[in-house]
Amino acid sequence: MIILENVTRVYHGSVYALRDVSLHIKKGECCFLLGPSGAGKTTLLRLMYALEQPSSGQVLIRDRDLAGMDPAGIQGIRRHAGFVFQDFKLIEDWSVYDNAAIILEILGKSSAYIRSRVWKMLKWVGLQHKVYERSGDLSGGEQQRLALVRAIIHDPDILLADEPVGSLDEVTGRYIMNMFYRLHKKGMTVVIASHKEDPIIDFARVIRLDKGKILGE
Ligand SMILES: Nc1ncnc2c1ncn2[C@@H]1O[C@H](COP(=O)(O)OP(=O)(O)O)[C@@H](O)[C@H]1O
Ligand SMILES: [Mg+2]
Repeated sequence: MIILENVTRVYHGSVYALRDVSLHIKKGECCFLLGPSGAGKTTLLRLMYALEQPSSGQVLIRDRDLAGMDPAGIQGIRRHAGFVFQDFKLIEDWSVYDNAAIILEILGKSSAYIRSRVWKMLKWVGLQHKVYERSGDLSGGEQQRLALVRAIIHDPDILLADEPVGSLDEVTGRYIMNMFYRLHKKGMTVVIASHKEDPIIDFARVIRLDKGKILGE
């Protein structure tokens, strides 16, 4: 599903975010990228969402090479993937509903479909009573759940999440991890980056990273 071969990513000619990383992620796998700050986790996720290009090496996503990909190809990758950003990237002045619905609107879905899909997903994460609230007024845990809904509203087959539990209390963190588990069980390929070991992550393949290199699994 996602293949990296000898990938190096250098910033400004000398900052090595990733060094010669090779990694194969199979369809339906759940991977936990574990490593300290600066290990290269975010860079790896950004490559998998075509937000970055490798400086050298090859990245294949669903058998398509990132190198030289045109905007339509990049759109195609993102059509089938969802990204939960570390800082959520919600539009704070918009309602919970509008943040959840925007991608379906861009994809041109019917308003009847959008309404039912948004309600269903907000209910799934327990935000149905907050539908018309401004998203900037939600708590951290609620914003995390909304960011997750927005990432999966278009039913992608790859879900990428950057430090999704790092800033949450233990109970909320466990709740979010359980959501990832359920998505993985439904067949989604899930990649989660984290700087700390999670005791409930025994369902995942743990990949340890440091200083831009894979240390082992
Ligand atoms: N846009 C960028 N410009 C310059 N350096 C960057 C950029 N993005 C990441 N880096 C550097 O690359 C290294 C890996 O960063 P990152 O992938 O964000 O690691 P992590 O998510 O594990 O903390 C760090 O040294 C970071 O400072
Ligand atoms: Mg990071």
